[in-house]
Amino acid sequence: MRRVLVTAGASGIGKEIAAAFLSAGDSVYTCDINRTVLEAAVRELPGLKHGLCDVGDRNQIGAMVADAVSQLGGIDILINNAGIAGPTARVQDVDPDQWEAVLKVDLTGTFLVTKAAIPHLIASRDGVILIMSSAAGRFGYPNRSPYSTVKWGLIGFMKTLSMELGVHSIRVNAILPGAVDGERIQKVFQGRAEATGKSLDTIKAEAMSNQSLQYLVDPKDIAALAVFLASDAARSISGQIVPIDGDMQRN
Ligand SMILES: NC(=O)c1ccc[n+]([C@@H]2O[C@H](COP(=O)([O-])OP(=O)(O)OC[C@H]3O[C@@H](n4cnc5c(N)ncnc54)[C@H](O)[C@@H]3O)[C@@H](O)[C@H]2O)c1
Repeated sequence: MRRVLVTAGASGIGKEIAAAFLSAGDSVYTCDINRTVLEAAVRELPGLKHGLCDVGDRNQIGAMVADAVSQLGGIDILINNAGIAGPTARVQDVDPDQWEAVLKVDLTGTFLVTKAAIPHLIASRDGVILIMSSAAGRFGYPNRSPYSTVKWGLIGFMKTLSMELGVHSIRVNAILPGAVDGERIQKVFQGRAEATGKSLDTIKAEAMSNQSLQYLVDPKDIAALAVFLASDAARSISGQIVPIDGDMQRN
């Protein structure tokens, strides 16, 4: 039974990932900022170990990772899933406080959780780190500069971690989802419609015209990819960006 820490797993993609590892027989801990959704997730996924944590608050991260280690008995697989979307605005209109908030959660939060988990992953002797980037970490993303910036930054972090930790047989890869089915993408489409003055239907049609496969990504498919990348079947894969986006051509 592997010991899995997934951040921000009370809903969305993180919850699907937690569910998939639980189904595979693994022991899973998740943290989330939202107590209500966390409690609902625990009711839905019996056995899910959990704790409250704002990944954007550096003072909470050490205690959260220690709690995960104590509940799981160690960490073999770390999945840095937490990430907020940030504002939709042109660079000249982005509020610096909102810019910093995205950096704090998505980039610094991932760094701090990983830093605290590394000694445990080394002790595991067969560690895996997955980092949730985005298609926004492969393309530019007009009107979403903070988000695109952190998702590209996470690629540099992933590449460097892979080189530093390979000697410990720890593998590090990044998952880059495109347009994922769920509440969040509907908000993104809404934001784009407001920023551009186009109708919601036009925005949705434009989004699909950017992909070879004409459908949104199912979060369950992202969870299945995470399970594969964490498995022995992927034991020679490290330092890679793995898009899951229906062959998206641009944002
Ligand atoms: N949904 C998409 O279309 C999409 C596409 C590409 C990449 N991603 C990435 O996948 C990851 C998960 O996305 P999602 O759409 O499932 O997220 P989401 O917005 O649905 O949020 C998932 C969970 O994160 C929690 N959360 C928010 N801020 C937090 C914080 N500071 N600390 C701890 N928990 C926090 C929320 O309470 C929620 O339960 C993110 O890194 C996101 O950037 C998502």
